[in-house]
Amino acid sequence: MNKRCPIAQRMQHIHPFYVMELLARARDLEAQGRSIIHMEIGEPDFVTPAPIIKAGQNALGAGHTHYTPALGLPALRQKIADSYRSNYGVLIDPSRVLITPGASGALQLVMGVLINPGDAVLMADPGYPCNRHFVRLVEGEPISVPVGSETDYQLNADLVEAAWTPQTRAVLVASPSNPTGTLLSVKALRAIYQVVKERRGVLIVDEIYQGLIYDGEGCSALSIADDIFVINSFSKYYGMTGWRLGWAVAPPECVEPMDRLAQNIFLAASTLSQHAALEAFSEEVAVILEERRQEYMRRRDYLLPALQSLGFDISVVPGGAFYLYARSSKLAQDSFQFAQSLLNEAGVAVTPGRDFGSHKPEQHIRFAYTTSLENLEEGVERIRCFIGH
Ligand SMILES: Cc1ncc(COP(=O)(O)O)c(C=O)c1O
Repeated sequence: MNKRCPIAQRMQHIHPFYVMELLARARDLEAQGRSIIHMEIGEPDFVTPAPIIKAGQNALGAGHTHYTPALGLPALRQKIADSYRSNYGVLIDPSRVLITPGASGALQLVMGVLINPGDAVLMADPGYPCNRHFVRLVEGEPISVPVGSETDYQLNADLVEAAWTPQTRAVLVASPSNPTGTLLSVKALRAIYQVVKERRGVLIVDEIYQGLIYDGEGCSALSIADDIFVINSFSKYYGMTGWRLGWAVAPPECVEPMDRLAQNIFLAASTLSQHAALEAFSEEVAVILEERRQEYMRRRDYLLPALQSLGFDISVVPGGAFYLYARSSKLAQDSFQFAQSLLNEAGVAVTPGRDFGSHKPEQHIRFAYTTSLENLEEGVERIRCFIGH
């Protein structure tokens, strides 16, 4: 143990992203003059839509530099509530909307108010890696439930029922999911909700990739019941990762404890970002975001068959987000080593499965189509040469 700075035991369970090492290596190679195709990055390549940036600049000019209420600007909470009505026909009282520093802030608040030490939280494996750590931070037990293509890489009611124990307090799902891009239908969500409710648990639904849907209609878990916690963010669909702004919609009776926790751990989300985000729901921005959604869809429709033709197995067409989760076992025994060699030798950066859990990670790779179609084509050609097709 380090005597000068004794690190708490919980930190043994908080792991870094392996992809960060890969990204650092990619940046090194770029600094040496190598060209790298980035298919590892989980954020939009587009900059924030211009009207939102302008609104942020105006907010600074107008001197909006003070704290907002911990729950966020009332006007922004109202706009978010309105967006559920116009997009999904769901009526939400704005008092249930809490503005947070990213979905990450929302997840911390939700775990903070729900999870006692030792409480178990069920989640899909593969899944978003930080979820395990948010649970660990409040001394809970993240329980990874292995999922595969047979359930579209999602939890379902049977899996939740089978994994439930007396310690289970909550289930966390994401639709569309990271790293697989697959969706949960309202029907599937409702079935999970019923199992959870019968056991007096809580359902948390991460809808951060909502809006980035390419097949079928999007939905929100808020249409099912008002005691589901919904997480969302301006990061992905609105292209605002660096502004660090997200939100949660909470059951009415949970807003007060979440407000109390937010006051203590954040005070409030960034004021500048909140003012900028007021513009995110304008018609002008909607047009830009729709163009971008179509561009992501074009990329997916190119990349999916192109990777399959190289021998990657992608048996579920992901209906959303900007990821393809491919089985690489026909091409490599260990996806981590494959990703490292692919970067060093062919200049293509991808994320190996081991960032997303412990269920067959060595057999999987996540490709993010957060780069131009031209770059994706170049990336595919480089992979083709690398594997000797
Ligand atoms: C599923 C999921 N949830 C939450 C987050 C956190 O997003 P942010 O804090 O930027 O809103 C991410 C980021 O990649 C994600 O993929």
